[in-house]
Amino acid sequence: MPTGKAAVEAGTNALSLINTIQSVTGIDLDTLVPNPNVAGKSVFGGYCGPAVKPIALKMLATISQDPVTTRVPISGIGGVSTWKDAVEFMLLGSTTVQVCTAVMKHGFRIVEDMCEGLNNWMDEKGFKTINDFIGKSVPALTHWEDLDINYHIIAKINQDKCIHCGLCHIACEDASHQSINLDYGKPYNTYTVKEEECVGCNLCKLICPVEDCITMEEHRKGDEYLNWKEFQRQGLPLNDH
Ligand SMILES: Cc1cc2nc3c(=O)[nH]c(=O)nc-3n(C[C@H](O)[C@H](O)[C@H](O)COP(=O)(O)O)c2cc1C
Ligand code: SF4
Ligand code: SF4
Repeated sequence: MPTGKAAVEAGTNALSLINTIQSVTGIDLDTLVPNPNVAGKSVFGGYCGPAVKPIALKMLATISQDPVTTRVPISGIGGVSTWKDAVEFMLLGSTTVQVCTAVMKHGFRIVEDMCEGLNNWMDEKGFKTINDFIGKSVPALTHWEDLDINYHIIAKINQDKCIHCGLCHIACEDASHQSINLDYGKPYNTYTVKEEECVGCNLCKLICPVEDCITMEEHRKGDEYLNWKEFQRQGLPLNDH
């Protein structure tokens, strides 16, 4: 961000981000030399492709939130591999996108797929030009203190879909809030969510191998929007939220 700001203040006509990220991708456990091995020596390499997309989107978002850096067009780069990726970059303020790794893997033809996907999505959403949606997701990114702490979700297990693998129980027990009850039984154990304990972290849903077996249901803790500062000002008990 400071780099982007300095570039705009110095008179640049446009910004582009991101380039590769310095990395060590791994070490050969036989030779003990990090990758890539160039005659027994290595250097930091440039990480790119899908792995860097979340980092690129975050950096792009900070550029798009700043009134100085948004004075110029922004070209988004970093892990763009499909039309969906391109749309996500544009929704966070990119006026153009660039593709490197995906073209290296699949050739220039994938750009045609991207254009087709983008066109179809625009038709579906009723967008006539790209300017109708560039930057549209930026206002939805806020500071954690401004999130509504009355918003609360609870995991629900669909017993008809459950295959009784127990993965959700292990995940919640060992890495979250011990909110999934295990009832030993024959032929299968049964897993149910302790609603009063569940903090809505989503971990069990991510772990569950069966699609839509675990869903997150909204259970608001209050009707009003309540942010962290207001919550502290009112001195409400923490365990209420
Ligand atoms: C093999 C390779 C060579 C690259 N060479 C350059 C370069 O010479 N100058 C530059 O600014 N960026 C260079 N990049 C970075 C890309 O332009 C791009 O910013 C980066 O790879 C992230 O996009 P991607 O995830 O689509 O690959 C190179 C990337 C790769 C993979
Ligand atoms: S959402 Fe989190 S806390 Fe709730 S049951 Fe799933 S893993 Fe446990
Ligand atoms: S992870 Fe999914 S399928 Fe496995 S026990 Fe939990 S709810 Fe059932």
